[in-house]
Amino acid sequence: MSHQYENEDKSQALKGEESLLLDHNYDGIQELDHPLPRWWVSLFYLTIVFAAGYVSYYMTGIGPSLREELATSLAEIEARKPAPQPGGDGLSDEALIALAAQPEKVANGKDVFAGKCAACHGDKGQGIIGPNLTDDHWLHGTGKPSEVAAIVRDGVVEKGMPPWGPVLTPDELKNVTAYIRSIHGTKPAGAKEPQGNLHATNE
Ligand code: HEC
Repeated sequence: MSHQYENEDKSQALKGEESLLLDHNYDGIQELDHPLPRWWVSLFYLTIVFAAGYVSYYMTGIGPSLREELATSLAEIEARKPAPQPGGDGLSDEALIALAAQPEKVANGKDVFAGKCAACHGDKGQGIIGPNLTDDHWLHGTGKPSEVAAIVRDGVVEKGMPPWGPVLTPDELKNVTAYIRSIHGTKPAGAKEPQGNLHATNE
């Protein structure tokens, strides 16, 4: 029965496509041999040209090896890393002294002080339960801004000075330190007697 298809001439080809018909016939199924689209063929040749370029650049020693490329990338990453700076958290003496020269920072520090510190240190820093913060005497360190900031942050729990690090924002901590610096030497009325060691300069 399969013979009935063998010389079948009823081609499925549309008009004009006869020339594309391949001359095989599988049980009546025929195949057209369409030329590939020009853009596709161009792309194909382009990949060959690209491959030739790629191979001659990377595999003959003209271009960098994978190891060299890795080394270059790593060097680039290293170069972009900011150099670690002492006091990069803004709690260095230089940074805090610069802050103390900015009235709006000091004003914010004053607000923080009034709200959180005045109860023990007095509204002008003259000292009540906590020591006078305006004089030249310091219980901890020498009155350097970095030391003051560290005490405010960590507190002296056993002596009744709470740690403020977890309470204040980093900016509030810096600003209140700047405020303490700004009231140094103001000799407020009713100041508490000096406590700690004399450090005339608080630089
Ligand atoms: C509950 C009371 C209390 C509060 C509130 C308090 N302090 Fe104190 N503070 C103390 C006491 C007490 C000391 C002394 C600690 C000691 O004897 O070692 C002290 C010490 C300090 C010192 C060190 C002074 C020195 O002579 O070395 C600084 C600076 C300071 N406080 C800043 C602050 C700031 C800023 C705040 C608010 C954010 C604050 N304190 C809030 C009680 C307090």
